[in-house]
Amino acid sequence: LVRRCGVRYIGALDQGTTSTRFIIFDQRGSIVSSYQLEHEQNFVKPGWVEHDPWEIWDNSCECISKALKEINLKGSDIEGIGITNQRETVVAWNPKTGKVWHNAIVWQDLRGSELIDRLKEEVEASYLQDRSGLIFSPYFAASKIAWLLENVEGLRDAAEKGDAVFGTMDTWLTWNLTGGKAIVTDVSNASRYLLMNIESCTWDDELLELFDIPKHALPTIVPSSGMIYGTTTPSGPLRAEVPVCGILGDQQAALFGQACFTEGMGKSTYGTGGFLLVNTGEKLIKSTHGLLTTVAYQIGGQRPVYALEGSIAVAGSLVQWARDNLKLVKSPQELDKLACSVPDCGGVYIVPAFSGLFAPYWRSDARGVIAGLTGYVNRAHLCRAILEATAFQVHDIYKAMEGDSHIVMPSLKVDGGMTNSTPLMEFQADLLGVPVIRPLIVETTALGAAYAAGLSVGVWKDFDELSAYWKEGKRWEANMSEEEREQKIQFWKKAVNRTLDWEC
Ligand code: G3P
Repeated sequence: LVRRCGVRYIGALDQGTTSTRFIIFDQRGSIVSSYQLEHEQNFVKPGWVEHDPWEIWDNSCECISKALKEINLKGSDIEGIGITNQRETVVAWNPKTGKVWHNAIVWQDLRGSELIDRLKEEVEASYLQDRSGLIFSPYFAASKIAWLLENVEGLRDAAEKGDAVFGTMDTWLTWNLTGGKAIVTDVSNASRYLLMNIESCTWDDELLELFDIPKHALPTIVPSSGMIYGTTTPSGPLRAEVPVCGILGDQQAALFGQACFTEGMGKSTYGTGGFLLVNTGEKLIKSTHGLLTTVAYQIGGQRPVYALEGSIAVAGSLVQWARDNLKLVKSPQELDKLACSVPDCGGVYIVPAFSGLFAPYWRSDARGVIAGLTGYVNRAHLCRAILEATAFQVHDIYKAMEGDSHIVMPSLKVDGGMTNSTPLMEFQADLLGVPVIRPLIVETTALGAAYAAGLSVGVWKDFDELSAYWKEGKRWEANMSEEEREQKIQFWKKAVNRTLDWEC
């Protein structure tokens, strides 16, 4: 393959929960090259999950070099780099030496539960929601940082002396890419710490005090686009000085990549977890239905744009669990095939509350259940119930979204790996009673990061231009009677109730 004359390139580094990818887009938003590597999941003990930050950085370097090599491009051919990342996962390192203080604590990790439970007793939930837009949960970065400060020897002293910073993966990767120059996090990532004031979009002194976290050990909050945070170093994987000029948390990036730029537009991503976000414009909507208020993006010095979010901890990872832990199938494709071989779930409902239940329930004491087992149930029914679990969870947050925002979405834009599952997408449309639509370019997360970076360096002009690139790829229509839908939802609710109060 040879370089094409006049083509402009933007790179997106997509650092997800299970893998890292570097995707190169041209100025029409088409993928010209991509490389992906998985990293290890360290399940230290039940409820604890860690990643090795250096493994992630090494993988990022390899992905960048391989993607460039595949189409014979040089790093200097790339006009800008956008970063998108698993949110809330915390890395602590010494910015003077690069020494990592501890493995990264992953967003699914529940070790902050004890602190959260204690704070819940002392502080009104409404206080927290008013200041941060979030709720008491070990999901967010704050309790993970507090745990590190409390449990890693010497870390608190180091943080006081400037020998430790705490950041999410965007901070870690930007720091590495810029040769240690930039210590930043974009406002969409910062809004997931439980430490940022959701109105002013700055670190909140009262919340910092509540979690006992020193402000100077946190990254500087920057806009998601419209700014160059630093340039890559010639000794790094691009071998050139390329602007790093866009950052978005992965779910906000998918919203951006789906061109949801106006109030009321939303998308549902089916990845390791599941995340439904709806753009609420400059309006801060405080949820009364268990949703989160979060920052969707901020362009340069403009007002931030907000979103309401419904987060599901376990979606695609349930399929992975069925394959790796239960050995039920060898691949997601086999699971799909088996699921399609039966007309329904045979009465089985699976609620994968592996990390407790996220939205709209927010119960970290919940644990997973398989309900409705009878002698009639076979492997195929279980496979179907595994897929349906994700659709039911999305249904729960879709309804909460309607309740909070009064936004009724006439269809649902979807993306992520699980949209390859026809039985899941069909069932999702049936359950919601609206069409489910996947765009032509399915890599919306990386695309969103590329858009953020490309807007900063003038590869793209504005949202109108980006919106024009969104094209419908595939559509699934709803095809289930109201009565059948209601009955299934009642069974699902019963199964959810059985997950609660599990811990003695
Ligand atoms: O909040 C966690 C989320 O950002 C992780 O996304 O796509 O890696 O499951 P994903």
